[in-house]
Amino acid sequence: MARLLVTGGAGYIGSHTAVALLEAGHEVVSLDNYSNSSPRALERVSRIAGRPLTAVEGDVRDAALLKRLFAQQPFDGVIHFAALKAVGESVSKPLAYYDNNVAGTLALLQAMQSAAVTCFVFSSSATVYGAPDELPITEQAPIRSTNPYGATKVMVEQMLRDLAAADAAWSVVSLRYFNPIGAHPSGEIGEDPNDIPNNLFPFICQVAAGRRERLAVFGNDWPTADGTGVRDYLHVADLAAGHLRAFDFARRRRGFTPVNLGTGRGVSVLQLVHAFEAATGRSIPFSIVERRPGDIAACWADPSAAARLLGWRAERSIEQACADGWRWQSRNPDGYRGEAAT
Ligand code: NAD
Ligand code: WQD
Repeated sequence: MARLLVTGGAGYIGSHTAVALLEAGHEVVSLDNYSNSSPRALERVSRIAGRPLTAVEGDVRDAALLKRLFAQQPFDGVIHFAALKAVGESVSKPLAYYDNNVAGTLALLQAMQSAAVTCFVFSSSATVYGAPDELPITEQAPIRSTNPYGATKVMVEQMLRDLAAADAAWSVVSLRYFNPIGAHPSGEIGEDPNDIPNNLFPFICQVAAGRRERLAVFGNDWPTADGTGVRDYLHVADLAAGHLRAFDFARRRRGFTPVNLGTGRGVSVLQLVHAFEAATGRSIPFSIVERRPGDIAACWADPSAAARLLGWRAERSIEQACADGWRWQSRNPDGYRGEAAT
């Protein structure tokens, strides 16, 4: 079994991955500044997995802290989730995103290099593809950012490519997530957006819970089957499982390897709404409004590289993700700020 540093471990995807790592017998050290999460998530992670983890409160940009962490006990690898991820916010606060996401990753890589820890799994995003020329999207598709957030992911991937080219000791897997949704089936951990959700799925959950009156559908005049935007939604538990496969792969294969994590199926906004209503029995009132600036019509993955290289495929259905996401939302209407899940 391995000892892993998981940055952003208290976050949405990090907490689900921490459960999977603990259940697989790995040792987990979470480093999180709780800028977009709660340490309570980590308490629940340990409760679900039935095993403890080490929770360190701190910032990946803190070089002295990183040096201490890497000096305490050797890590077999790092899974790096810590980042700011709101596209709209990145447009208004680009320097905060470059500092947190790029400088933060640089500080982490420098600490790893000093400690001779060279196994790295990175949270990248399908946003690096921008508006795709072809669908489904393969890892060979052109890389181009359409906003500062996406640019931070493109820049970090370039850093990683250059690092792996300069030093053959490095094993780097850059996981390009499509659209993660849902929650752990226990209902104990899930997505806990700080304020008005930017993303579709958490917004639907809040409409279902009565926290939002109705869903605004950003355009029904897209060149898609029903005119609404199409995305590749994957269950966050499948995404978490992909990280364990990626880590195992990185332990065997040197160099830089980008891998798409998606289902390979496109689902429209209205299809997701109807799937959610069917899976939960909740009604989701909606209105069609103007397109959101910067949106694209359709985006879904060619996940064949993940199957070939990692032996990973998404296994859970959209309906399962809807049911699991609703269980989290209904049991934790105020996320981790509310009462503990019963
Ligand atoms: P999240 O905000 O829930 O989790 C990120 C975690 O990192 C939070 O717990 C936050 O407190 C922590 N963090 C942020 N900056 C930090 C810093 N400087 N030092 C220490 N901790 C810090 O987000 P998420 O949805 O779990 O995303 C995790 C990763 O996956 C991010 O890198 C994101 O860009 C990427 N990603 C997310 C999605 C998505 O739709 N959620 C899609 C593609 C890629
Ligand atoms: C999905 C679809 C919207 C909200 C974003 C980031 C990306 C990644 C994942 C971090 C689109 C429509 C949405 C709403 C709507 N995050 N929609 N009403 O835009 O595919 O990707 O999250 O890496 O970087 O760009 O996800 O959930 O925002 O939108 O109609 O209230 O739902 O137009 O078609 P997106 P999303």
